[in-house]
Amino acid sequence: MLRLIGIKKINIAVFISGNGSNFKNLIIDSLKKRSKYNIKLVISNNTTAKGLKYARKFKIKKKIINYLNKKNAEKTILIELKKNKIDLICLAGFMKILSKNLIKKFGKQIINIHPSLLPKYKGLDTHQRALNDKQKYSGCTVHYVNSRLDSGKIILQKKVRIFKTDNSRKLAKKILKQEHILYPKALKKVLVNL
Ligand code: GAR
Repeated sequence: MLRLIGIKKINIAVFISGNGSNFKNLIIDSLKKRSKYNIKLVISNNTTAKGLKYARKFKIKKKIINYLNKKNAEKTILIELKKNKIDLICLAGFMKILSKNLIKKFGKQIINIHPSLLPKYKGLDTHQRALNDKQKYSGCTVHYVNSRLDSGKIILQKKVRIFKTDNSRKLAKKILKQEHILYPKALKKVLVNL
């Protein structure tokens, strides 16, 4: 168990594939006075991920991982995690599934944010599926990552009302706004128990 003694901060790696708005939001949270963590590294499978601009802006080390061969990709990821003394991984719109082997070899906690009220709508296209099913609510979930997709223990969830006028884009926008509140809150909860 890691202890938050004195000024020792937890080193976090954020994994992204796209826009990186959750990444940016976590960076800003990490820069607050009483923050217990540093974002030390960002990893992306996508060279053109828009979110990588925040690595430049906030001077965070970035590593692009070529995923043509998943085994090699994960080997490189594990080396980077070790080299940067990463204590915890935050997945934030990372569109690759981590293997059982990586999860086991890393051996520390990995958390993820997912745009639905899990266990409903695991996987992709969550908003359209919620709309197709005429759900009254959707939302977002922060959960621990295990070897089954979007199935780890839930840390926190936030419900969002679906209106008749919502389409997938509108709903995604509303939920993303809540994700930006939920992720730092959930992370705080996780860090207390580290
Ligand atoms: C977020 O809505 C996140 O919940 C979702 O991708 C978006 C990334 O946005 N993640 C997944 O769908 C993972 N299965 P961002 O790049 O702006 O943070």
